[in-house]
Amino acid sequence: MSLMLVRGLRKSFGERLLFDVAELALQSGSSYLLTGGNGSGKTTMLRILAGLETAQIGSVSFEGVTIPAGEICTQLSPRVVYLHQHPYLFSSSVAANVAYGLKAAGMAHAKREALVREAMTWAGVNHLAHIAPHKLSGGEKQRVALARARILNPKMLLLDEPTANLDEEARRQVAGLIRQMCDNNHCVVIATHDPELMTLKDAVQLRLENAALR
Ligand SMILES: Nc1ncnc2c1ncn2[C@@H]1O[C@H](COP(=O)(O)OP(=O)(O)OP(=O)(O)O)[C@@H](O)[C@H]1O
Ligand SMILES: [Mg+2]
Repeated sequence: MSLMLVRGLRKSFGERLLFDVAELALQSGSSYLLTGGNGSGKTTMLRILAGLETAQIGSVSFEGVTIPAGEICTQLSPRVVYLHQHPYLFSSSVAANVAYGLKAAGMAHAKREALVREAMTWAGVNHLAHIAPHKLSGGEKQRVALARARILNPKMLLLDEPTANLDEEARRQVAGLIRQMCDNNHCVVIATHDPELMTLKDAVQLRLENAALR
């Protein structure tokens, strides 16, 4: 059974057909590299899968359960998490950002604390816990955003060019964290041009070209 199965996915902006995909099946434990030229629709595709953008959709199911196309976001968040290319962090603190999803889900502070610490340690941002997010570098922001996503243990993680505009060292760190997320419990879909992520072990290549997914 696919983790997510989308059939009859069509997206147009005005007259322009962006893509027309008969079937897209994404599996748990698999990672996918979504490539394609500028403007081919990578960001749009990820946003549709997260339910953040509307499209013509024949049917969509998650873990075998049919989801109404208009309810993808409400029903699948936070099992499906989308990370923006330039992650938005709340202007509180790094720790508060990482804790945000658990707090929103109603988890008590005492219970959250150990999980937040663990996620920040994983992402190597413990030393930044009390720094105002606007002071962070691009790479640090990405790592905080990855910690904030990972703490929710999403079944599917959609990453939009997570290493774009980062220097060599930051790219290496972020790519390392993403590699760790690509395990049996997660499905990771990454829109990228980055050769370092392209070498992700066993990743399935999906290429958007001429309105089709190849
Ligand atoms: N809200 C919108 N209204 C009209 N056109 C849009 C809208 N959003 C995106 N587009 C167009 O759809 C196309 C695909 O955009 P998208 O951002 O998905 O491409 P991309 O593959 O992510 O590109 P890049 O590699 O530059 O990130 C682009 O031509 C873009 O201008
Ligand atoms: Mg894009």
